[in-house]
Amino acid sequence: MIEEILSVDVMSAEAFDDDADIHLFAEERAAVADAVPRRRREFSTVRRCARSALGELVIPPAPLPPGRHRDPQWPAEVVGSMTHCSGYRAAAVAGASRRRSVGIDAEESAPLPEGLLDRGALPAERNLAERLGARSDAVLWDRLLFSCKEAVCKVWFPLTQRRPGVGGARIDIDSGGFFSARFLAPPPRAAGNSVPRLTGAGCTAAGSF
Ligand SMILES: CC(C)(COP(=O)(O)OP(=O)(O)OC[C@H]1O[C@@H](n2cnc3c(N)ncnc32)[C@H](O)[C@@H]1OP(=O)(O)O)[C@@H](O)C(=O)NCCC(=O)NCCS
Repeated sequence: MIEEILSVDVMSAEAFDDDADIHLFAEERAAVADAVPRRRREFSTVRRCARSALGELVIPPAPLPPGRHRDPQWPAEVVGSMTHCSGYRAAAVAGASRRRSVGIDAEESAPLPEGLLDRGALPAERNLAERLGARSDAVLWDRLLFSCKEAVCKVWFPLTQRRPGVGGARIDIDSGGFFSARFLAPPPRAAGNSVPRLTGAGCTAAGSF
């Protein structure tokens, strides 16, 4: 499912259920030693997906422990991202020589909890979700907007060690599900000199829209 919205140089793997017996490296096992079974399962399955995607880049299986801010630690030669939600896990990776960062996010297709978008989106973004919703109810636009913001956060964090925050980036989505993000604050030096503009795409379990 996710492959259809990723660029051809971004490798991915996904899963719709968990296996009981997935190999974890010692540092990964330590990271979820005290976690509840559901958390251990999603953590393990998404790492199996990540190693499968790494294999497409001919990178041997490597430990992918969470960093201090939960950001997964990838082998130096790749950038990547992982996501999981009820019934779905996915990972995407690309060569670090081709991409500066990758971010993916999956969400359950369900209405957002009341008030979440008021706290988590700019007024212009909320208006956009309303306008799109008035044109088509085939997609939960507020959920998609939230997911775009999460994906943007996962792109931004490895570059800067910071989350962009609610007002740090403005998302624009078109009716085809393609989106762009404009960063509203100058990036920290670690992210390079130019203010990046980021593009992405969304799809639903029923297909792209
Ligand atoms: C980073 C963040 C997006 C992850 O959200 P989430 O709901 O856990 O997302 P998912 O379940 O889809 O993905 C979880 C995976 O994201 C990855 N992840 C977690 N923190 C991360 C970070 N700081 N940077 C990059 N990737 C991260 C991990 O691989 C994690 O899986 P794992 O713990 O099994 O390794 C979230 O914690 C966050 O900080 N959101 C931004 C909050 C914010 O600024 N909101 C304003 C706009 S709404």
